[in-house]
Amino acid sequence: MIKIKKRKFLLLPGDGIGPEVVGEVKKIINWFNKNKSLDFEIEEEIVGGASYEKHGTPITDEVFYKALESEAVILGAVGGPKWDDLEFSKKPERALLKLRKELKLFANLRPAICFKQLVDASSLKPDLVSDLDIMFVRELTGGIYFGEPRGIKPIDNGERKGINTHVYTSSEIERVARVAFELARKRNNKVTSCEKSNVMEAGQLWKEEVQLLHEKEFKDVELNHMLADNCAMQLVRNPKQFDVIVTDNLFGDMLSDEAAMLTGSLGLLPSASLGAKDKNGNMRSLYEPVHGSAPDIAGKGIANPIATILSFAMALKYSLDLDKESNMLEKSVQNVLDEGLRTKDILSKGTKEVSTSEIGDAIISKLQ
Ligand code: IPM
Ligand code: MG
Repeated sequence: MIKIKKRKFLLLPGDGIGPEVVGEVKKIINWFNKNKSLDFEIEEEIVGGASYEKHGTPITDEVFYKALESEAVILGAVGGPKWDDLEFSKKPERALLKLRKELKLFANLRPAICFKQLVDASSLKPDLVSDLDIMFVRELTGGIYFGEPRGIKPIDNGERKGINTHVYTSSEIERVARVAFELARKRNNKVTSCEKSNVMEAGQLWKEEVQLLHEKEFKDVELNHMLADNCAMQLVRNPKQFDVIVTDNLFGDMLSDEAAMLTGSLGLLPSASLGAKDKNGNMRSLYEPVHGSAPDIAGKGIANPIATILSFAMALKYSLDLDKESNMLEKSVQNVLDEGLRTKDILSKGTKEVSTSEIGDAIISKLQ
């Protein structure tokens, strides 16, 4: 068993806008080290397309082992059109999927919160989204992302067959549902579990296992089952009906992107991917913005770093138990939005456009 080093952060900026947004988090970590007498040790490595260019692989063993022994990994984003045609095992995304799988980060927390300052940036009417606060718990190490058999195979008539397998076991469902119920208890005590039990056996098992766990341990929490397509519709019809949504890897990927737009911009949504606690209370974790590498705006200094900064705030809370510092950072983000500073993606009438690093600096100045 590899020992986790306390307070060691591994920064993996990755591709596209990754380095720009992680750069702002680096400034914030340095601020905490200087001003709050914290002692975060940071190391930085390349992954994704950047690693492929240098080493011919999306993640080297060396970087992988560093991640394995870090208390928290902060990742920017991976991928881009440049690497679209690579064979599957070399694609930048494989680095991220390997980290999630091998670090056993089965619970992906994606809060979709609509800041009151940004209700106008949402495509939905303000009263539908103001004060929206949904917590997605996406299963992250199972389902169709990892199921076997998989691949592309030639078949008899000169055609090819693409295969992926959607598979879940009882324990995989139970452990992620437990995370959702426990989170709900600290929020509005309501869980919606989404699957396609009307067409998929794995979906039927999902529903049954969540129901069983509810009856065994969480009767005090309100539980609803919802078909995933209905959930997609309900999210734009009446999103405030939800508190915690627990769902599988693929549905979670799609529904959380949809929810992101309710909040105004993908540039605002953080995420935490958590493993199980060992007997010493140590836990592996990876924090990343929900958005991707956005190659179209990379290098222009206009990317929104807030999702990554809020991901770091989640790291302070979930990995380091520094709730006070985490709240302080969230508050600083709010203050900067109050002042009307915006990156391009959330710009609206009466607000001022600033660059990636200007908004980072403004957030730091509010920490003082
Ligand atoms: C996400 C992303 C990833 C996923 C990609 C980059 C592999 O879309 O984190 O939501 O599909 O999980
Ligand atoms: Mg996604």
